[in-house]
Parts: sequence; structure tokens; C-alpha cells
Amino acid sequence: MSKIAVIGSNMVDLITYIDRMPVQGETLEAPDFALGCGGKGANQAVAAAKLGSRVLMLSKVGDDMFADNTLANFQRFGIDTRYVQRVPGVSSGVAPIFVRSDSHNSILIVKGANAHLAPADIDAAAAELRECALIVLQLEIRLETVYYAIEFARRHGIAVLLNPAPALAGLSPEHLAQLDFLIPNESELALITGQVVDSPATAQTAARTLVASGIRHVIVTLGEQGALYVGEEGEFRVPGRQVAARDTTGAGDAFIGCFIHHWNRDGNIQQAMEQAVAYSACSVMALGTQSSYPDSEAFARFQQQP
Ligand code: RIB
Repeated sequence: MSKIAVIGSNMVDLITYIDRMPVQGETLEAPDFALGCGGKGANQAVAAAKLGSRVLMLSKVGDDMFADNTLANFQRFGIDTRYVQRVPGVSSGVAPIFVRSDSHNSILIVKGANAHLAPADIDAAAAELRECALIVLQLEIRLETVYYAIEFARRHGIAVLLNPAPALAGLSPEHLAQLDFLIPNESELALITGQVVDSPATAQTAARTLVASGIRHVIVTLGEQGALYVGEEGEFRVPGRQVAARDTTGAGDAFIGCFIHHWNRDGNIQQAMEQAVAYSACSVMALGTQSSYPDSEAFARFQQQP
């Protein structure tokens, strides 16, 4: 199986489990806290690696106590970290996250070293990137680096996937049109298209406009309602899996990590989406971000459950 390259962020997740957010001027006790490895790029890379993919990571860590832990975490899952570099005098990326008892979250991100991942870093890794079958991108690094990576992938005939998260308005239509895969959630899709997206039907309509503009495959993640495909292979919906959710943080990244693993292995989009919907559902049953991602054995056990 060819390698997958993830060009993206890593963060230290500072997860506070809360009953409610404090109001201005209030100090409030929260029931629990956990420190974990996160960042959308790292989460997707780790999910794919836990399932057995070979992953090359391009990312930046800071000059602080978090950096060694982040590097060790990537290496624990066999991820190639030759292009995860330290930036002197800069903090690592951090994400204060607040998870409510209904399992939903609010996230702040401080990009820190992630903002230093530049087009020159792609050139430096060009030889290794050319051996990858797929380049995976998100929006927690500089936009110019994301655009450069899309151009690099096109120039070298490598499939390229963008998860446009966190949501950002004003993305370049010329670059979006060059994508093989765009995987937004509903709010990201609404921002990109300027259309109202509040149901699977409106998501389908908005996704069609992106496919008409040149993107080959648009996959919209719909949370507990599953996912939707519009693209060269037609249109179809993969239903959601009903589970007892405890923490939805990183569920979208779990979907993408599992999707890229299966698509890169078998090339079947619908089957990869079915696996990804199940993997994402499995992840929300456990607390934390990467810590909630099952490896292939644990995922197989989950799949056998009725
Ligand atoms: O998608 C979840 C991730 O968003 C968290 O791990 C956090 O680090 C932010 O990047």
C-alpha cells in the first residue's frame, strides 16, 4: 500500500469537561480535565496510522515542553516524522477545548508553530511526497502552503484531499477546482458555497455546485446522520450509526483518517465512507481526541456489535 502524506497541523489538546461555560467575571469549577495530542492534521494522520496506513507527516512543533511529546506520539504510531520540525522561539500549537455533558464541544486554536509550515517545506520533502499516492490537507496551517500543496499534487499526479476545517470564507475557487476530494461538514460547506445548508437535501444541492465547478468528489459529513457523496460516481448517502456519544471532539478527523486509509487501500469510495462513518461513531463513544480512535482490532470488534 502506498504512503499517505498529511501536510497539516498538530496541537496539544487541553480538554476541560464542563457542565456549562462560565459567564464574564465568574470562576466556575469544572468536573474534569485531560491533556491529549490533537490538531486536525495530526488526528487524521494518527487515525490512518492506527488502522495500518503508512503515513508521512509534514508539520511544525514549537520550542517548548510539548514538542518532544508530540514527536514521540507520532513515532509511537509509526508515522514518518522526518519532516516534522521544531521552530525556535515559538510555542507549539495548542487547543483549549470545552466538552459539555451532551458530548458537544467548543474549540479555540492557537496555531503557534503550525503557522510556520511554508511552501519551502513542501519543496524540501518533494522526493518523499512524490512517492505518496495521496496528499491530505486541512486549514490549520498557512493558506499559501495549502494552495502550494494542491499545485504540487496536481503537477506530480498525486491525488489531493482537502478537509476545509476550521471553516474559512474566501477560499480560492481555482484551487478548490483542482481537488480530487473535498470533505466539509455542513457549516464548512455553507461557508464555501454561500448557500444555506441545514439538511441533507440542501447539502446535496450545495455539493452539486462544487462538483460543477470542477471538484471530482465532494463528501459532506453529517454527524450522526452519516455522510453524503456527490461527484463523478453519482450521488449517494451513507446512513449514520446510532451510538451513546460521550465526546464528539475529533470525530470529523476520525472520519477522514479512516476514509483515507480505506480509499488508499482499495480505491472504493462508498466502502471507504461506510467504514469512516462507523469509525467516527466508534470514536465519539470514548473521551478525548486521538485517544478515542480505535486501532484496527478494536474497530473490528466494534463492527461486529449489532
Ligand atoms: O478536530 C478536532 C481538533 O481541532 C482538535 O484536536 C483540536 O486540536 C483542533 O485542532
